[in-house]
Amino acid sequence: MEAARAAEQEEPIVQAIGVIRTFGRGTGAVTALKGANLSIRSGRLVALRGRSGSGKTTLLNLLGALDKPTEGAVYFQGQELSGMSEKHRDFIRRRHMGLIFQSFALVPYMSAYENVEFGLRIAGVSTQQYRSMAEEALDFVGLKARMKHRPYELSGGEQQRVAIARAIAHQPSLILADEPTAELDSKMGLQVLKVFKDLVQRGMTIILTTHDPAIMEIVDQVYSLEDGIIVDEG
Ligand SMILES: Nc1ncnc2c1ncn2[C@@H]1O[C@H](COP(=O)(O)OP(=O)(O)OP(=O)(O)O)[C@@H](O)[C@H]1O
Ligand SMILES: [Mg+2]
Repeated sequence: MEAARAAEQEEPIVQAIGVIRTFGRGTGAVTALKGANLSIRSGRLVALRGRSGSGKTTLLNLLGALDKPTEGAVYFQGQELSGMSEKHRDFIRRRHMGLIFQSFALVPYMSAYENVEFGLRIAGVSTQQYRSMAEEALDFVGLKARMKHRPYELSGGEQQRVAIARAIAHQPSLILADEPTAELDSKMGLQVLKVFKDLVQRGMTIILTTHDPAIMEIVDQVYSLEDGIIVDEG
């Protein structure tokens, strides 16, 4: 039993094997990833870094089941995402993953609470659970007292924390965040990182892309991309 549990913990939650992603065809084709490999264990906070155009967002979208590789395979919890139908991938993503974007992507006319509730609806959570799950997520990011406020009444850091609450309310095992702190000043960026650290403590796995050296210091693992290839895994 113990051995089985240890083996389970050892199994990567996400894996990319020889991933190639080409956009377009013929002379206009762009190969954004040229054979990327990575393997991420549960409960880690991982950063993808690299210059603009190096393939970070492309890789994150593949790990997040938003896209399919041209060649190679992507696994999530041992299941091959790259072999699934789009419908099946959507189901896995909505149930088990949470996405966070640079621009927060909150619905402007909805309150913080409604934005989080909206996320639960998309994840297929039953209506009776909406309130407690949304409130718990907002409490986790320290914004329960502000839940009736709309995005324009909140600071950038607070808006990003609402977006995090929306991404975590359905208790996903994997969170993918594309430059989540790029639009925040360093103090707000650190608040967001603190929330990420707390989530990882609770056993979630987080993969983010960033250009910020301060963040690279804090995370557990950094993958460096250069022109579509992972050149360093530190
Ligand atoms: N849908 C697409 N069609 C054509 N080319 C694309 C597409 N998406 C990305 N690319 C190209 O693939 C390469 C990698 O893009 P990607 O967005 O992954 O880079 P990035 O590392 O996230 O950059 P940034 O730091 O600027 O966000 C770039 O050359 C980009 O122009
Ligand atoms: Mg990008």
